[in-house]
Amino acid sequence: MMDKAELKWTLNHIPKTDDLAVKNMSVEEMRRAGSFHRSFPQYSVTPLTRLSNLAEYLGLKRLYVKDESYRFGLNAFKVLGGSYAIARHIAKELGKDVSEVPYSVLTSDELREKFGQATFFTATDGNHGRGVAWAANKLGQKCVVRTPKGTTRTRLQNIAKENAEVTIEDLNYDDCVRMAAKEAENTPRGIMVQDTAWEGYEEIPTWIMQGYGTLATEADSQLEEDGCRPTHIFIQAGVGSLAGAVIGYFSNRYKENPPVMVVAEAGAADCLYRSAVQADGNRVDVTGDMLTIMAGLACGEANTVSWDILKNHADAFVSCPDWVSANGTRIYGAPLKGDERVISGESGSVTMGLVHALMTKPEYKELKEALKLGPDSEVLLVSSEGDTDPDRYLEIAWEGLCGTDKQPFADL
Ligand SMILES: Cc1ncc(COP(=O)(O)O)c(C=O)c1O
Repeated sequence: MMDKAELKWTLNHIPKTDDLAVKNMSVEEMRRAGSFHRSFPQYSVTPLTRLSNLAEYLGLKRLYVKDESYRFGLNAFKVLGGSYAIARHIAKELGKDVSEVPYSVLTSDELREKFGQATFFTATDGNHGRGVAWAANKLGQKCVVRTPKGTTRTRLQNIAKENAEVTIEDLNYDDCVRMAAKEAENTPRGIMVQDTAWEGYEEIPTWIMQGYGTLATEADSQLEEDGCRPTHIFIQAGVGSLAGAVIGYFSNRYKENPPVMVVAEAGAADCLYRSAVQADGNRVDVTGDMLTIMAGLACGEANTVSWDILKNHADAFVSCPDWVSANGTRIYGAPLKGDERVISGESGSVTMGLVHALMTKPEYKELKEALKLGPDSEVLLVSSEGDTDPDRYLEIAWEGLCGTDKQPFADL
């Protein structure tokens, strides 16, 4: 019998830098994105669910989850970024401010005539590509999506439904990004809309991160309405755009005394954790297939804009084996009596599994204490997706699937 893999973690000892990127995640910028999203007929604030009985069981004061399975009927938060970046791009090309191109204008014949036909390219593990394809489709634009090896048919079909050209490549996520970027470059009016940044490609990813800000501003208002000032925020990361957006926003919001902020990654793709362990401020890449059930987190090269924010503002980085996310899915799916059920998929649930492990397993006491997690803690989690792959969700929730090898947890 194989041993169960352990969580790996480090506190943030990276020397602080000029901290230039965090200002792009200001409260004002994030609210600007929120105004844009509110112009969509599909828009509604996603629920912030308070799990009072679980908080008590775990020994926390309060525990909240921002449930992104309700976002625009797409089951994940990702559409916030792609739609906002496309709007910012179109606004820029037309010499307008994004406030002048709400949904009704973007989808008008007049604008379509002025802007003409472009092709938006992207690479994706599923959710981002679906969001970009959805937005491009709504705006009558073309979209090409490349997905990595291991992408399930369900994820592919969900993108194809949005009239996008979509393929599964024999490449990992980061190589698919390079492929799509090259294709965009070689296509007349081809535009790369990628949810990660690299040197020389930072404007669109910054807009994408600002788009994610909508979930942060909503959660902030919802917490405030419930009389909560969060003490801890746990956020999952692939390339780190979501984490950079959320941590950037709350660092600006609570400049003097920010919450403790923890980044959780899939163990197979823990580039941020490894960069934090190296602690010289440089990024460490993870390469290869990165097999994990957390498809959305299977990215080995960090976003350069986010990395600047995370190294200056995250408190800890945790590398999580698949059982952490699988436990999280089951805890959300089988709540304590009186708590609401949350349907949380593989990339959505890892922070719940992590908080559960920290509060219940003696082997992680040191990290729990370092983070000062206890009866005064008011914790915010983001369930970033619902059952975006429904078959996989049931295998985890009902059959005890734990890892990519399809073995139930008991066999590992
Ligand atoms: C559901 C879900 N959660 C979290 C993430 C991680 O976001 P990021 O790559 O910005 O770190 C992704 C990325 O695709 C995702 O699909």
